[in-house]
Amino acid sequence: MSSDQGSSSSEDTTSSSDEWSSSSEETVAPKFISKSKSNAKSNSIDENEQNQEPNARQRKALLSHLDSNQSKIEEQDESESIDAVDDTDDLDPELDLVELGTVVAMSLSPLPESIVPFLSKYLPVPKDKKVFLTLTYAQSIDSRIAAQAGVQTKLSHSETKTMTHYLRSKHDAILVGVNTVVVDDAKLNCRYGSKSEIRPIILDPRKRWRYAKSQLRKVCEMGQGLAPFIIIDDKIDINLDDEDAKTLELQGGKYIQLPLLMSSSLANNSWRLILDKLYKLGIKSIMVEGGATVINSLLSDFGDLIDCLIITIAPVFLGKKGVEVSPSHITNLQDINWWTGVQDSVMCARIKHLEGK
Ligand SMILES: NC(=O)c1ccc[n+]([C@@H]2O[C@H](COP(=O)([O-])OP(=O)(O)OC[C@H]3O[C@@H](n4cnc5c(N)ncnc54)[C@H](OP(=O)(O)O)[C@@H]3O)[C@@H](O)[C@H]2O)c1
Repeated sequence: MSSDQGSSSSEDTTSSSDEWSSSSEETVAPKFISKSKSNAKSNSIDENEQNQEPNARQRKALLSHLDSNQSKIEEQDESESIDAVDDTDDLDPELDLVELGTVVAMSLSPLPESIVPFLSKYLPVPKDKKVFLTLTYAQSIDSRIAAQAGVQTKLSHSETKTMTHYLRSKHDAILVGVNTVVVDDAKLNCRYGSKSEIRPIILDPRKRWRYAKSQLRKVCEMGQGLAPFIIIDDKIDINLDDEDAKTLELQGGKYIQLPLLMSSSLANNSWRLILDKLYKLGIKSIMVEGGATVINSLLSDFGDLIDCLIITIAPVFLGKKGVEVSPSHITNLQDINWWTGVQDSVMCARIKHLEGK
């Protein structure tokens, strides 16, 4: 049985990108915390946050979260010296903080004013029975998105990170490959504006990800994000009694089964299958945020599905060990615009398709 039958429908829960407003919001000073410093106390908490009282369950979840992250930090400190982590997301390692019984959500730095008009013509618009797909990620100047395979790498400045959350507020869903959630244990929510309702979609054909043990699950428990839709191959069994399936169902997420692993033409068409299915579930706009396998597959073979590219370029070389993003062939762009901030540049563009293709 397909697990998406009978579970709560996303038509009810996903909001159209048209409904999002870019309401001005209060933000506080940038706070970039490297893994080694991430247990430090926050001193930039806004009033609302200070007034939030967590219940005991939330507090327990946060404390165990901090414990498990601390173990990861210690492991990483021993194993490699690359400075911290964290990228466009949450593909970020920031930790929520517990301060004398108060749950404190990490805050974003203010959105640079000039970003809003710069991005405006690249934001999702309704398409005829198709998902609007934005491909967006942060890369080094040598086109790497991580310093090594399996290592989360800090690239974005805080202002471009805020831009990513602003973009999330304009989309119905974020999609990432399974390695990204395994490596980054990302929160995949939206912290710009008053709504945190963006649907995480995880492409996990072999059902390798343990949702019940993830940070995203805790984020959902705390009401700070939506539970994910996890796309798995239709030949993989779902044990509805296992902890992942039970937690997902309780939180309003689900497994979606599609023929992803078949070595037939269907497999070559996996992105079309995925996007058609998501559209039927009410998702009209998606930000695809990584990782490299997902980005390269879209750029190489499914450029026609990409409506716009928003790429943050950080002024650093990650070198030859870095995880490269690049299409398999020359890909020309059009409708190109650049924005330059304190540290990063952002390029918005569309793919130029050859005539007749
Ligand atoms: N800088 C940034 O903006 C950014 C953003 C996100 C991630 N990252 C980084 O990227 C790295 C992870 O990248 P990655 O290339 O290892 O992994 P990934 O792209 O996150 O995930 C790859 C996996 O997703 C599944 N998959 C991908 N495309 C598929 C398709 N078309 N159909 C079916 N399944 C598909 C496959 O799973 P199976 O192997 O199980 O079949 C594949 O191995 C991490 O280091 C992360 O930190 C950086």
